[in-house]
Amino acid sequence: MYKATQVNKDTWWVGVNDKESDMFESLWPLPQGVAYNAYAIIGSTATAAIDTVKGPYHDEYYSKLLQALNGRTLNYLVINHMEPDHAGLIAQLKSKWPMLKFIGNAKTVPLLKGYHGIEHDVLTVKDGDTLDLGGHVLTFATVPMLHWPESMVTFDTTTGVLFSNDSFGGFGAHEGGLFDDQTVKARWEDEMLRYYACIVGKYSNIVQVALKKLSALKIQNIFPSHGVLFRKDINQVISLYDKWSKFEGEKGAVVVYGSMYGNTRRMAEAVCSGINAAGVNEISLYDASRTDPSYILRDIWKFKAFALLSCTYNTLLYPPMEAICSKLLNRMPKNKFLGIAGSYSWSKGALTALQDFAEKSKLTKIGPEVEVYTSPNAEDLQKCFELGKNLGEAIL
Ligand code: FEO
Repeated sequence: MYKATQVNKDTWWVGVNDKESDMFESLWPLPQGVAYNAYAIIGSTATAAIDTVKGPYHDEYYSKLLQALNGRTLNYLVINHMEPDHAGLIAQLKSKWPMLKFIGNAKTVPLLKGYHGIEHDVLTVKDGDTLDLGGHVLTFATVPMLHWPESMVTFDTTTGVLFSNDSFGGFGAHEGGLFDDQTVKARWEDEMLRYYACIVGKYSNIVQVALKKLSALKIQNIFPSHGVLFRKDINQVISLYDKWSKFEGEKGAVVVYGSMYGNTRRMAEAVCSGINAAGVNEISLYDASRTDPSYILRDIWKFKAFALLSCTYNTLLYPPMEAICSKLLNRMPKNKFLGIAGSYSWSKGALTALQDFAEKSKLTKIGPEVEVYTSPNAEDLQKCFELGKNLGEAIL
């Protein structure tokens, strides 16, 4: 990965690892970094780059692209997506190769002008249009909202490689091999799901439409613009996207609490015990103050049920819990069982806010709702246990 790497016939990975950014979109932590995968296809009559990388990585990307071109001119840049993590170097490529033509779709055009002031040499394509590079015929399919309106994927009909951009992408920089069969599945799957829940999950209904559209292609490899490249078992990764976009949760639960002095935490622990007593062993217990929401979103996406327990803060929901509810409502996963509980001292507020969240979420609420004054007594904790048990039984 320190150099241009051939990943299929005439096809090169020319991407970079970003181990410097702490946050993706300045929102989501990157403890293992992130990769911006970009590619080059060297046809017999023309060459094409598939996307670029984030701006600060110009020198590294450009050097790899030159290695892949091996003295040839770059004829086309296929712009699958205009977000700057992939489109950061478009203008620079044009300055290096003034005859360069850009391939995008109608919705790419205003973004290309807006970000880079480019209005000329843009070839707009529609679904099914082709570009012949000599020995490699590319075809294009728009996948609007995966992840922006102009997003599209590019398919090499010769090699069967789908350049899927954000779709099938994941957090995590490359740490050796680029491919799925060179890496540990549990590791990339976790980071792929966290990426899905945070970035793509809001558009899960559109993922279903896109999967149907892409099923017409004879896909051999899936090369996304983030994370692992897939060549070993394409069906496995397509199945994951199918499952996540249908909200098919596994038999497990997430219990999230917001607690200042440990009282709501003890309620959450009673909920966990109840879930476990029902026979469910997969339980993630998270402190909303100390766990980044991306990990909570990931596990809520993964499992069938979740519970939210919050203390009251200045008559409202505890701020870290409020942040989680807001992120959930923005990309609301469906088909989940939900339990809620609140606590208060000098003013109520948390449970009312969680009831409002539950109503907006349209999820299946499991009772009892629990509201505790100051510190939970034995009866309160028993109610929390019952809530957990009912959630566990719903899961099973
Ligand atoms: Fe990886 Fe939506 O950009």
